[in-house]
Amino acid sequence: MQIAILGGTGDIGEGLAVRFAADTTHPITIGSRDEAKAVERASAYESRLAERGIDRDIAGAANAAAAADADVVILAIPPHHVGDTVEALADADVLSDQVLVSPAVGMQGDGDGLHYRPPSIGSVSELVAARAPEEVSVAGAFHNLAADRLADLDTDLDLDTLVVADDEAVRETVLELANELEGIRALSAGPLANAAEVESVTPLVINIARYNDDLHDVGVRFH
Ligand SMILES: NC(=O)c1ccc[n+]([C@@H]2O[C@H](COP(=O)([O-])OP(=O)(O)OC[C@H]3O[C@@H](n4cnc5c(N)ncnc54)[C@H](OP(=O)(O)O)[C@@H]3O)[C@@H](O)[C@H]2O)c1
Repeated sequence: MQIAILGGTGDIGEGLAVRFAADTTHPITIGSRDEAKAVERASAYESRLAERGIDRDIAGAANAAAAADADVVILAIPPHHVGDTVEALADADVLSDQVLVSPAVGMQGDGDGLHYRPPSIGSVSELVAARAPEEVSVAGAFHNLAADRLADLDTDLDLDTLVVADDEAVRETVLELANELEGIRALSAGPLANAAEVESVTPLVINIARYNDDLHDVGVRFH
């Protein structure tokens, strides 16, 4: 399964890229608005893996080219820009039977901490679905995983991630993919209508890390 990580040059993109590269054999392409930046970051991730004896080719491409060839497109892009990015992909006519996966969460910070601020449609995952062509499947996943913890391959994850999608087969595909990451247990949280509940956990875990000195990169594990 070809995985494209758009905005894979950023924090969660790096974490997901190195984990998928280390733990699976799926071909991975890093996408960026700037092709040269994507190629440079992909090569940096390859070097990080090579230092650990992991020999992986990671491609870099402009976002549209990365998405065009992918089966699964992870939108590792800030929440306020993910809708426009999806529309640009649709305008470039590169979206057809891919599964789009959104890890994005709308949040606003103040002196107290981070607060959940979903778009008016309800959640970023639903916003992605609304702005994608009708035939393109959308799922939400990876919202509650801290980028630094993912990117640190010396850390055992031991975390859950919650997957939402309207189409059961699509949800199953993303659950299986996420479960391939060592230390991640992917759990279904139902259809996209439940995405807001999933996304809203992200500011909670970040606030817990902020107010508890001995906790960093907090995640969730459901028992
Ligand atoms: N960081 C975390 O721990 C974490 C955890 C879970 C979920 N998330 C979610 O994952 C998403 C990405 O988070 P992040 O922390 O990785 O963000 P980030 O590092 O700030 O940005 C990720 C990438 O987004 C691209 N980007 C920036 N502005 C853009 C625009 N106007 N249009 C299109 N692309 C743009 C950039 O790539 P190029 O410049 O290369 O195009 C950037 O490298 C967010 O929605 C966040 O809510 C983050």
